[in-house]
Amino acid sequence: MASKGLDDPTSPKSPKSVRDEILALRTEIARHNRLYHQLDDPEISDAEFDELIRRLRHLEDEQPEEFTEDSPTQLVGARPAAQFSEVHHLQPMMSLDNVFDEDEMWGWWRRNQKILGDAPVRFVCELKIDGLAISLLYSNGRYERAATRGDGKVGEDVTENVRTIAAVPKQVVGTPAAVLEVRGEVFMPSEAFTALNNRRREAEEPLFANPRNSAAGSLRQKDPNITAERELAFMSYQLGVVEDGPTFSSHSETLAYLADAGFPVNPEIRVVDSIDEVMDFCRHWQNHRHGLAYEIDGVVVKIDDLDQRGELGATSKAPRWAIAFKFPPEERQTLLNDIMVSIGRTGKATPFAVLKPVFVGGSTVGMATLHNQDQVRIKDVRPGDTVIVRKAGDVIPEVVGPVLALRPAHLPEWSFPTHCPVCATDLIRPAGESDTRCPNGDCPAQAWARIVHFGSRGAMDIEGLGERTVSTFIDAGLLTDIADIYTLKDHIDALRKLEGFAQTSIENLLQAIENSKQRPLGNLLFGLNIRHVGATMGQVLAKAFGHLDQLASASVEEIAATDGVGSVIAESVAAWFANPANRELTNRLRSYGCNFQGPATPSTSQTLAGMAVVVTGSLRGFSRDTAEAAITERGGKSPGSVSKKTTALVVGDEP
Ligand code: IVH
Repeated sequence: MASKGLDDPTSPKSPKSVRDEILALRTEIARHNRLYHQLDDPEISDAEFDELIRRLRHLEDEQPEEFTEDSPTQLVGARPAAQFSEVHHLQPMMSLDNVFDEDEMWGWWRRNQKILGDAPVRFVCELKIDGLAISLLYSNGRYERAATRGDGKVGEDVTENVRTIAAVPKQVVGTPAAVLEVRGEVFMPSEAFTALNNRRREAEEPLFANPRNSAAGSLRQKDPNITAERELAFMSYQLGVVEDGPTFSSHSETLAYLADAGFPVNPEIRVVDSIDEVMDFCRHWQNHRHGLAYEIDGVVVKIDDLDQRGELGATSKAPRWAIAFKFPPEERQTLLNDIMVSIGRTGKATPFAVLKPVFVGGSTVGMATLHNQDQVRIKDVRPGDTVIVRKAGDVIPEVVGPVLALRPAHLPEWSFPTHCPVCATDLIRPAGESDTRCPNGDCPAQAWARIVHFGSRGAMDIEGLGERTVSTFIDAGLLTDIADIYTLKDHIDALRKLEGFAQTSIENLLQAIENSKQRPLGNLLFGLNIRHVGATMGQVLAKAFGHLDQLASASVEEIAATDGVGSVIAESVAAWFANPANRELTNRLRSYGCNFQGPATPSTSQTLAGMAVVVTGSLRGFSRDTAEAAITERGGKSPGSVSKKTTALVVGDEP
């Protein structure tokens, strides 16, 4: 827990120790901010982060001389990552202050009531979708630019990535304002999030901790084609700058305008007259949040009347007229029956908790990943412990830690196995890596997982070749590796004898196997179980090399020269093809008729599709011809002169 080691806020402390704690907290918060906002890889939950901020705020209140304007309690988010160009927001994008229970909600309202007096007030209650804030800019009704919040003043330019989100209008409906800034939330619906993580699990790629990180990770891709594949959604909840456009006197009017102008607005919004009703709304959604198609982490309450908002104003970080009611993380205690280790298709040994099934966060959880050896050691969970299981917006259940007060006496510590639980080979953990692996390529667990993966939807899509069927076929001696799948049709008699296989299911399976031979090269590459080659990387390599043989004979340097492929992946791919056993495997797949030919489309992602980019003058670093070739390779046109159709003009020296 993030609050571990923090002192009891009520105990008196010396000024020096308060100062030390403030400094330590600021460093810690800055680190978590970077992990969350720039790397999309948080180590702690939102609730734990909020707890750090609360503690820091408490200490700053206690010792105001330690307060500075640049304290993280006053800042919003983090600076943009270097790979995107900066966007200076026309109006700051503020954050929200949080309350965590009914008392705090009343506290927020009483502070505001002191300013507003007895005037009647209406509150707009909105769901707080767990995504990331985005600013969309429209010029004369046309989509022009999209930016992330960043630190509130400067965000990241994600125009091309956001353009791929179908829910973001590219043209405003109705009379256009000269400038219209619409703000809202980009998010990944739960189903798309689960499917994405399933694909990543199959590819042994790191999983996204929650839909917010998956949305952020998907948006902040160098290649908009990847964003396009990620099924992101958008809902609007606010206007920013408006020039020569409509004016409003209340937030509810603004929302009605947004809906009329073609922007998605959440249908669950309610306008109410009292904090009691606000709390009813909060409680309702706290209990029903899992019925929604997306994750929410709370409720946002906003004062409706825009004049009243003006009276209340804002602090440097957040408006006073709005507040976020954050749901508590969903946690339950249960018994840890065992810790087991599973061996993945590339040999990765993953410890997981076998739990007494417990209902938490909308579903029953019987197993939870413990990630790796270090995580088990840090958490010090032991079979026989009562543990806390959490699902806090985080859809992947997590074992938070043991309840030490309930630990039976003399419960032995758990230690990571030294041998593969399946084939007994010594496990290895290369220096500097967090993963422990079974190095035996013939390990039955790996062989099984490789075949299951090869047949999976993202790879060769062989319906009917699921986990259980693969086990049955292996036990019957019909499968030892992925290429054997294509010899199953020669063993119809043996298949018929297997229990539970009707004639029709055998026929369907054999047909699905036959069809899989035509799968695109990218899916085949993904199916080959090359370490670090996930679904996306499979497509990237297929596009770049055009044929499996081309990739198989490429050097590490040639592979690493591909856009989006790093040296670790390049080495892994080259090493895989250098292995004679894998050469033999691919030769067999070829002889059975699997498609090795890549897509006919050009090798570069089509980021300029439909655009006309005119180049004029001499460019530094490369010739006009090279620039024009680069434009057409990316799907754009490069006409010789400017016209109405021109999207962009690239101006070099002496144009
Ligand atoms: S209003 C100044 N409304 O929550 C007010 N924010 O913790 C700005 N969020 O940055 C935000 N749903 O990313 C607002 N209905 C909603 C929201 C919402 C989700 C997010 C948004 C914001 C964060 C603040």
